[in-house]
Amino acid sequence: MSLVNEHYLKLKAGYLFPEIGRRVKAFSDSHPEAKVIRLGIGDVTRPLAPAVIKAFHEGVDDLGKSETFHGYGPEQGYEWLSKVIVDKSYQPLGVTLKTSEVFISDGSKCDSANILDIFALGNKVAICDPVYPVYNDTNVMIGRTGEADERGYYQGLVYLPCTAENHFTPAIPKEKVDIIYLCYPNNPTGMVATTEQLQAWVDYANAHQAVIFFDAAYEAFITEPGIPHSIYEIDGARTCAIEFRSFSKTAGFTGVRCGLTVVPEELTAMTAGGEKIALNKLWNRRQCTKFNGVSYPVQKAAAAVYSDEGWPQVQEIIAFYMENARLIREGLSAAGITCYGGVNAPYIWLKTPGGMKSWDFFDKLLNECHVVGTPGSGFGPSGEGYFRLSAFGSRENVQEAIKRIRQKWGN
Ligand code: MLT
Repeated sequence: MSLVNEHYLKLKAGYLFPEIGRRVKAFSDSHPEAKVIRLGIGDVTRPLAPAVIKAFHEGVDDLGKSETFHGYGPEQGYEWLSKVIVDKSYQPLGVTLKTSEVFISDGSKCDSANILDIFALGNKVAICDPVYPVYNDTNVMIGRTGEADERGYYQGLVYLPCTAENHFTPAIPKEKVDIIYLCYPNNPTGMVATTEQLQAWVDYANAHQAVIFFDAAYEAFITEPGIPHSIYEIDGARTCAIEFRSFSKTAGFTGVRCGLTVVPEELTAMTAGGEKIALNKLWNRRQCTKFNGVSYPVQKAAAAVYSDEGWPQVQEIIAFYMENARLIREGLSAAGITCYGGVNAPYIWLKTPGGMKSWDFFDKLLNECHVVGTPGSGFGPSGEGYFRLSAFGSRENVQEAIKRIRQKWGN
């Protein structure tokens, strides 16, 4: 008889976004006339940049000729893509990386989950609350936690509340933790961390020989100067941090799939016997066994993001979404709704009107305004009473959604 991984049974609900999809489908099926506007999951709507499409086509054409055909690529990604990322994305920040420290993948969601493979179950893990649900759920799935309590906190994880009172900035834990997930710009709150705040985390991690998992999937949306785009801009980060990045939101690759993980060569963790092990080597070993790389045309398309032609096109799309973010933030704030984020991130984190519970507001917004967002409580107990709107819609839909919300709740 085969036995299941019972840790999965500890998960409280379905994954957040499919659950939203289910409710929206049920509503749409029973109200086929309703024009539903989706600002829930952070899924892009603008087409890929022309230079990216051109490179994508060329990549496909290469596969059609024996002289340029490509079979299996390197599990770590083609070096020409890693080099372009190192030179065009990290070097301008003053960050020097080797191409061997960059691992190209099919996205940062998968990587931020898969990275747990190379860490022992005994590690004490800290996550923010609210948080991108993948960090919480994958730790449950792998067996690092006990059951959830009535609030939704899993036994064995350390939760770092991010609330309006602390400006959505988690306090450094008093207890010693071994792994810390940080996501900046933050999903879901849209807030960013300053150099000083990140320096405090890096100093903590180095002092405790902890590892920071730094999710920088939204770094391209930072508009204010002086905000770090990478954890490696912080002194000492090379000995304590792994960084995840993504082409999903930056370049519209949510359906194309490409991301990357940086594991510096100096970064180590211990065996139970006290031997230091290089995590770069371990991650490489994991990837070589469990992953066969990203397809060649996708990597060609990703490299084109950084081309002279592609970069301004991609920036224009990012600016379009950030204008949506401004419209949502200012439109709803003017209507008396308290909004956070949306300045350096494509998410607006708002306080539900009248202190409504997050899912109640979700249902009301769907039923009465035909607008879909994401309930804050879906990101963790401290998200209760909050709600996330994504700025990735079309301009027309964003403006219409703001109008409907203001008609209903505006003062
Ligand atoms: C979100 O809406 O939080 C994201 O789209 C989810 C993801 O990137 O996996």
